[in-house]
Amino acid sequence: MAKTATEYFDNLRESRIWRSIFRSGSGSSTLHRSLAIQQNIFLHLFSTKVRRRMLNLSATWYLGTLTFGTFLILVVTGILLMLYYHPSVPQAYADTKDLQFVVSSGLFLRNLHRWSAHAMVFLVFAHMFKVFYRGAYRPPREFNWVIGVILLLVTLLLSYTGYLLPWDQLAFWAITVGSNIASAVPLLGNKIHFMLLGGNLVNANALLRFYVLHCMILPLAAMFLIGIHFWRIRKDGGLYAHQSEPATVRAKAMAKQAQ
Ligand code: HEM
Repeated sequence: MAKTATEYFDNLRESRIWRSIFRSGSGSSTLHRSLAIQQNIFLHLFSTKVRRRMLNLSATWYLGTLTFGTFLILVVTGILLMLYYHPSVPQAYADTKDLQFVVSSGLFLRNLHRWSAHAMVFLVFAHMFKVFYRGAYRPPREFNWVIGVILLLVTLLLSYTGYLLPWDQLAFWAITVGSNIASAVPLLGNKIHFMLLGGNLVNANALLRFYVLHCMILPLAAMFLIGIHFWRIRKDGGLYAHQSEPATVRAKAMAKQAQ
């Protein structure tokens, strides 16, 4: 008799190779399922148990997950774009034009990166508003809200630093205006301006700084913070369901005791 897809999958999960990677093996018991989550380096960031209704679209509109999805697209397309781009003057502009008109699928790659960046900025705001609307920022999730605010800033900085990289007129003047706004910060303004540009003008130093920030420092910071963000969801008792959930009641009782 022909095997069903489920049977093939079960056999695969019982194979020696699979078991060498995922030690818990297959099994439909709650224990097996929990072990599968706990023993996987990526999955252990997530809760072992999830309230079924928190998986409904209406609970989160999957906005955080979609934000993460756009971030992953940006990482992959960004690495591919780096294969064709030199952060030097005037080569950066020539490379961008080559990507647009010469490189095979370069236009698609560039547009995918650009539109995913716009989508990520939109989604991160939408996610924040949805979390706020549901009241999911309240104890014990206030620390995750703070991590979220830093993630929002990192997302905006990623978007801003990426703007200069094509080294065209739009990029040059946008960064000139943006960095001048930064210099209006009381007391530290000029220092921030100098540190951001690596000098007083938007030139080759600024391009190199924005490149390193955009391709290394900020993505690594985002990955680190996203890791903490996901791990905190698990530690705070999963996604916020309602005010009477145990983690919220416990946090309220602790706050009362501290008073
Ligand atoms: C790169 C940016 C971000 C990513 C990738 C991200 C990802 C996620 C994901 C996947 C979830 C699970 C629920 C869902 O899918 O909506 C979540 C929950 C949460 N996020 Fe974010 N997030 C980001 C930014 C933010 C921001 C800007 C805030 C607020 C300022 C925030 C606050 C929270 C809070 C408080 C929760 C828990 C919500 C609950 O318990 O229901 N996040 N995030």
